[in-house]
Amino acid sequence: MARSPSFVCNECGATSRKWSGRCDACGAWNSITEEAPLSAGPASKSLGSRRGAAIALTDLAAREDPPPRRASGIGELDRVLGGGLVPASAILVGGDPGIGKSTLLLQAAAGFAGRGVKTLYVSGEEAGAQIRMRAARLGVARAPVSLATATNLRDILTTLEAEKPGLVIIDSIQTMWADHVEAAPGSVSQVRAAAHELTAFAKRRGVSVVLVGHVTKEGQIAGPRVVEHMVDTVLYFEGERGHQFRILRAVKNRFGAADEIGVFEMTGAGLAEVANPSALFLSGREAPAPGSVVFAGIEGTRPLLVELQALVAPSPHAQARRSVLGWDAGRLAMILAVLEARCGIPFAGLDVYLNVAGGLKIREPAADLAVAAALLSAREDAALPLGTVVLGEISLSGALRPVSQTESRLKEAAKLGFGAAILPQGSKFGSDHGLSVQKMPDLAGFVGEIFAAG
Ligand code: TYD
Ligand code: MG
Repeated sequence: MARSPSFVCNECGATSRKWSGRCDACGAWNSITEEAPLSAGPASKSLGSRRGAAIALTDLAAREDPPPRRASGIGELDRVLGGGLVPASAILVGGDPGIGKSTLLLQAAAGFAGRGVKTLYVSGEEAGAQIRMRAARLGVARAPVSLATATNLRDILTTLEAEKPGLVIIDSIQTMWADHVEAAPGSVSQVRAAAHELTAFAKRRGVSVVLVGHVTKEGQIAGPRVVEHMVDTVLYFEGERGHQFRILRAVKNRFGAADEIGVFEMTGAGLAEVANPSALFLSGREAPAPGSVVFAGIEGTRPLLVELQALVAPSPHAQARRSVLGWDAGRLAMILAVLEARCGIPFAGLDVYLNVAGGLKIREPAADLAVAAALLSAREDAALPLGTVVLGEISLSGALRPVSQTESRLKEAAKLGFGAAILPQGSKFGSDHGLSVQKMPDLAGFVGEIFAAG
């Protein structure tokens, strides 16, 4: 019995019964493709027609040992994983093409293999010679990693069942091809079927499976958001092409803290760990500079000082530009609106550029006040005193809200030689950080106090 066709959006994974040019769920254009049903079983039969087996029930107090972890020896990777790989887990590593996913995973494969984990690296993208050349360049050619170049999922699974590895790396999920699904490799149905088979294999055999996924220019794992829901851990590898720094970020982790980051530097011999990244995203300027403000941030469990740079200039265009790198464009618009509405500082007719130094992307609203400070400092051409960090969230009313973990942010700033902090009234922290602290109730107060001359 043929099922009516189903359609799926390649951007958000929403399904619908009919094709349309624009996805109702996410608004993307031309993203909807037909997909074959996952299994051809009779879908109309109700589950109630046959009885299932009884499931064993336990209580919440049942003692469970923490999952055993296997470390790669690459500290920054192990940190993001939550301490190492957990058996019977599936991990998705997403990132732009060319960002360094294959490099990272080949190094990781060598790390795990060197520590006794039987490791299989399956590439559907590159030829064996290419991978061996990369391995030589990375200095891991002697690592006991088994290499395969294959795309047929059935063959791969058969091989895995026979080889019984502890870790399998699939590079990339978009190249895998399941012959029971009638769709082209890279299509949503294929990617979903392949991810399903491989995660099921991970659970069934107690293996750790790493799936590499390319992301689209919209910043999503190409095709299926659904893969994100199937796996235990989703890591994104990000960074700007022109910068040497790469951030591996856990956006979902069933076995560790989400939002944890690992910092790497791309060198001629692969990715090098940056174990103390806190000072990395500062420009190390000696003199105060207008438009530049240091934000005391937290990434995952780790404090990180970041320099924000703004440029504000009269616009030659009818519509002024708003350009932002490393921070949310919507959030920038909000801060500009609050500055205008609550503090009477107009930005109309002015081009605004905002940049997070070092190619880092920050997502914390805690950076609001630092962004506002950078914008004001650029607009007024007045620099904040050197050695000052800024933190605080801005509400639409213009009030400043305290942020989490203020104490560790301040301690990190002090450790890196900063002497002063500007933060919201009501922020809670101990007194042993050694910074001179200025507390601000609201944005208007901050503007008056810091940029009074403007
Ligand atoms: P790659 O791991 O192939 O990216 P992905 O798998 O995410 O598509 O990395 C490709 C880039 O990394 C390429 O532009 C070259 C650069 N690279 C180095 O700078 N140093 C190295 O040692 C290696 C192996 C790659
Ligand atoms: Mg690759």
